[in-house]
Amino acid sequence: MSMSTMKIVSVVGARPEFIQATPVSRALRERHHEVLVHTGQHYDYAMSGAFFQDLGTPQPDYTLDVGSGSHAAQTAANLVRIEEVLQAERPNLVIVRGDTNSTIAGALAASKLHIPLAHIEAGERSYDRRMPEEINRVVTDTLADSLFCVSRTARSRLDTERVAGAAWWVGDVLFDSMLAFLPLARTRSRILERLGLRAGHFSLMTVHRAANTDDGSRLTSLVNAVNAVDETVVFPVHPRTRAALAANHLELAPNVLAVDPLGYFEMVSLEENARLIATDSGGVQREAYFLSRPCLTLRDETEWTETVEVGWNRLVGVETDAILEAWKGFSPPANHPPLFGYGDASQRITRILEGDVSAALQTGEIQDSEKSMGSNDNGAVLTAAGLEGIRA
Ligand code: UD1
Ligand code: UDP
Repeated sequence: MSMSTMKIVSVVGARPEFIQATPVSRALRERHHEVLVHTGQHYDYAMSGAFFQDLGTPQPDYTLDVGSGSHAAQTAANLVRIEEVLQAERPNLVIVRGDTNSTIAGALAASKLHIPLAHIEAGERSYDRRMPEEINRVVTDTLADSLFCVSRTARSRLDTERVAGAAWWVGDVLFDSMLAFLPLARTRSRILERLGLRAGHFSLMTVHRAANTDDGSRLTSLVNAVNAVDETVVFPVHPRTRAALAANHLELAPNVLAVDPLGYFEMVSLEENARLIATDSGGVQREAYFLSRPCLTLRDETEWTETVEVGWNRLVGVETDAILEAWKGFSPPANHPPLFGYGDASQRITRILEGDVSAALQTGEIQDSEKSMGSNDNGAVLTAAGLEGIRA
């Protein structure tokens, strides 16, 4: 390898960022010096520390303790503190991912210090500017020098938007995490026993989007639906949602098993064994697809339109009757095409950042053979096969 070692600052702050940073850190650290910055946007052990411990994510070099607050307060605290780190570290590159307030702050801080910026999970859009994450994504994509896309739709959208940076389709680093950790989740998780569940005989729900938690009538409609479902529903409750349920005096029926936020292994184990998944999470929609579980999306729109187009995800909104009808009647087709790459997104990102595009085209231990995690009792098969070309 001819390129020199880079110093890279990676910014993470929220639960999905910890999970997705792990395979990227592994790939980068084979040859480069990564400085991991945890902004402290999520701070409860169950929302943060648990992931570092379970996944073996490197400990952060900096923890900025920005905590919770209004969008302005949280973003501003992030911006000031990330800038200090960047001034002290003077990295060759800053990496941000996704669409959180930590993401937009990292992007702004790096850009104004003229430090090259890479955005992982670029090009996703809900086309709803009332959604804070949409604003974070649009601004970050505008500023990024290197944009790494999960989906081909996102990649071509960036052409339409004429972003200034170089954009690449690499696949989903969340799929890399799933391939890396599913075997461990299968051996380590005791969640089915702990909750007294049988594979295929329960559903799983998560809710945390501001559009659902901050609107009492939407949250009520959603709770009325899940309370009326004729099935056990496991519901790991995000702290934001726990507060909203209390503020709206909403009670969950006995069929709903509300639990604290779960570790990744427990969550993956529930996803793999659930009959159906209902969620407003971006990550959980994709994980449902990786694991071939039927998914109901409790939103009016989604960034992950491909999963809807192939028939595995249904956009149901939050209207009680619509949810109940879909909960009973939704059945995805047999066809399950690979939408999220080949489990080597982290390697491809690393090669492209090194400027070694031809290596990125060749990369992956899975080049010649099919990589499969096998099937579970419900017949879910997770495969990462072959390679397709990527394009700049
Ligand atoms: C954030 C991201 C969202 C992502 C989600 C992942 C933004 C704008 N949104 O939303 O894109 O999908 O993370 O989960 O950045 N809280 C705690 N303990 C914690 C963290 C949060 O109690 O460890 C509570 C606080 O009351 C806080 C609220 O949850 O005000 C919301 O947290 P925040 O980080 O602002 O946004 P999320 O809804 O988590
Ligand atoms: N997740 C988890 N425990 C939970 C809920 C979610 O480990 O109790 C994981 C989930 O498997 C996925 C990620 O967190 O990998 C998704 O994060 P979240 O739903 O908070 O955010 P989003 O993906 O919507 O940004």
